[in-house]
Amino acid sequence: MQTLYGSEPDDNTLRLLFEKLPFGGAEQILDEIAQLQYDFPLSINLFNFKGAIWNRLGDVVKSTRCYRRAILLRPDEGQFYSSLGNVFYLTQNYSGSTKLFCRAKVNQPNNRNTHFNLGNSYREQGDLERAALCYKRSLELDNRFIDGYNSLGLILLELKEINEAELLFNTALQIDKAFSKGYNNLGLVQKHKNDHETALKNFKRAICIEPDSPNLYFNLGETHWKEDEFLIAFKCYLKEFVICDDNKELLGAIGLSLLLMRFTKPSFLVEQVIHQVLKRKTSCKPLHAVTAALSIIKNNYKNIELINPPKENEHDFQGGLKHLRRVAENQLFMELITLCSIPDKGCEDFLTFARRFITLNLEKLLDEPSVLSLSSAIALQCYVNDFMFVDMPEERTIVSKLEETILTSLAGGATPPSIFLSCLASYKPIIKYPSMRSIKFPLELECLKRRQLLEPLEQITLRETMPSHGKIVRMVSQKVQAQYEQNPYPKWVKLHLSKPMLLDEIAVVEGLKIFDKSILKVVKPEVLIAGCGTGQHSITTANSFLNSRVLAIDLSLNSLAYAKMKTRKLGINNIDYLHADILNLDKLNRQFDIIESIGVLHHMADPLEGWQILRRMLRPSGMMRIGLYSARARKSVTAVRNRFKGNYSQLGDDELRSLRAKARNSSDNHWRTVLESGDAYSLSEFRDLALHVQEHQFTISQIEDLLSDLNLKFCGFVLTDYTMRQKFKKHFPEKNTEFDLKKWDVFEKNNEYTFAGMYQFWCQSAT
Ligand SMILES: C[S@@+](CC[C@H](N)C(=O)[O-])C[C@H]1O[C@@H](n2cnc3c(N)ncnc32)[C@H](O)[C@@H]1O
Repeated sequence: MQTLYGSEPDDNTLRLLFEKLPFGGAEQILDEIAQLQYDFPLSINLFNFKGAIWNRLGDVVKSTRCYRRAILLRPDEGQFYSSLGNVFYLTQNYSGSTKLFCRAKVNQPNNRNTHFNLGNSYREQGDLERAALCYKRSLELDNRFIDGYNSLGLILLELKEINEAELLFNTALQIDKAFSKGYNNLGLVQKHKNDHETALKNFKRAICIEPDSPNLYFNLGETHWKEDEFLIAFKCYLKEFVICDDNKELLGAIGLSLLLMRFTKPSFLVEQVIHQVLKRKTSCKPLHAVTAALSIIKNNYKNIELINPPKENEHDFQGGLKHLRRVAENQLFMELITLCSIPDKGCEDFLTFARRFITLNLEKLLDEPSVLSLSSAIALQCYVNDFMFVDMPEERTIVSKLEETILTSLAGGATPPSIFLSCLASYKPIIKYPSMRSIKFPLELECLKRRQLLEPLEQITLRETMPSHGKIVRMVSQKVQAQYEQNPYPKWVKLHLSKPMLLDEIAVVEGLKIFDKSILKVVKPEVLIAGCGTGQHSITTANSFLNSRVLAIDLSLNSLAYAKMKTRKLGINNIDYLHADILNLDKLNRQFDIIESIGVLHHMADPLEGWQILRRMLRPSGMMRIGLYSARARKSVTAVRNRFKGNYSQLGDDELRSLRAKARNSSDNHWRTVLESGDAYSLSEFRDLALHVQEHQFTISQIEDLLSDLNLKFCGFVLTDYTMRQKFKKHFPEKNTEFDLKKWDVFEKNNEYTFAGMYQFWCQSAT
């Protein structure tokens, strides 16, 4: 008998197939379907079923093909559009899934799930209003549909309709008392309302019901953080990490919290967490994590002596090699030293020793892959710290010979051994040698090639094409420019980027007092960064203000080129860079909603003159973020600077290096204090910290006077050390004291290093 096109296997056969599915064996079922398709080549049910199985097996292409055939054969059946829509949704093709669910709706106008799925697709595309309408329709069709209440509630929460959202989560919980998402979302509502105590209770309830569900511990941690319970928050983040180790927001939160964490016990988990955070491109600023990371590395019993040079004589080859191999095994340490300067004396000694050991024993280390990895990591460390480690005469002789050997072999068309290259690159950057530009680097040295050769080459091009505004004519500007051309500050690899926010959200997060609320309504802020340095500042700001357009200017072309290169690499496209002196900005004839100048005005001949120019560029309700040195916190720097009687600019890199080495061994208390700063472990940072060609310092009462002269009002300090705010609140628990500069002055008197970085604060036009 001939099979009719479109005929189907009988219901019983299909039912038996369906029943097998929960017991696995998808491949076997696919075989059985294939046999049935021989008799029923155009069976719609078989295509549909096969589509579901391929989907379950994760084969999107095959699953899509099956559903498309089912649609072709039965274009009036809404379910097939829905099934294909689900595949598109799961593969994040949301515009495709939206079209399919819309089509499904035509045939299934009263299907609750179709409306719900369509709502999800709209939500993923950011169309919250349409999404809300779909969820509402799904609830009209089924008024006990918990997921409908929940999803609609989340949209309302996002739209800041907090009370309506709360009502919906409560309705969902009335239907199902064990609906953990409901408690979690109620917690989010309470967090919005600053009712942290109830929020904590709700998150905990959700965790009791579904302990392994993602985000619950994260939300709990975030709330503890808001309550200044930093350690408890960190522990929650760790629990969340065990559930889901690649949540970007979580890793960002951990990255921020590491600034405050110090570990006194070994923990494999903590090591893993920090390593994961550091590996990410934008989860943390490595300098913020480095002390926490070193504390856990040092606590691991295997690493007790890890980052101190071995006691043995350095000519003990076997002893030294064993030590280096052991260090190379520590993945966290190896990652860390490639990312930022390491503010630790023991580490500096070890890395100086390791570099020397490798140099003195090069020939014996040709077949030592772990030593090659370490040597390459040391070269990256030396690049970020501007080759700050001190070398011995003996080493210098070998490095000169090594340089010659490498250049000769390159001239003869041969590629030198990898360890030769990494060793040389730990004393001098590869970019210095034009003949290295054409060689093929081995895989292990890829990162070194990128950072020491490709990126600097890119910067040369960017420098040449940097737009300029006016000439740098003033003497101090020229001196300061020369310093930053020689040592662009800071040389950074990674940074922390958080979710972009609107101005009103930023004001809440930073706890600012806003005098003219019209600024909060600006949805596309224009921002000026006056003195953007190497881009850490401009990129962070451009990313944090949603829909912003940023103009970032600086005196130093090398800094700007570095900034632009990093901006491109991070895919940030709302920053324009311009080579200019603040003193020439008047002629730009532009105004801005936000102006930021951090660590810049105090390097001008007359900071007030610079500030006045910026002030004139501020829109009427605009806000400024300013960073100025604190005289109190920099008392030791001043003592050290005074010994040089103004001759800082004459120090070349070599002199600076040996000066720092001497200072390191000195028993002078001021030098000690200066060297305790994290900024003393790279040449450019050290120069910036202690021997700047131009520096002014301020007191809080001077700042108060300046603000009054400039007709600006103080909106609040930005404190990187969160514990200081906690301490201040304990001292001055009354409401709004954090906006009283006189109180801060008293506080600083008793806590001299509160503003060790600098005073960083927001201020606004006083209209
Ligand atoms: C210490 S860095 C700070 C960079 C950046 N704001 C940050 O926080 O990372 C100071 C920067 O200000 C720049 N600068 C100093 N005086 C300036 C001026 N008159 N006009 C423009 N830029 C200036 C320097 O070139 C340098 O890059």
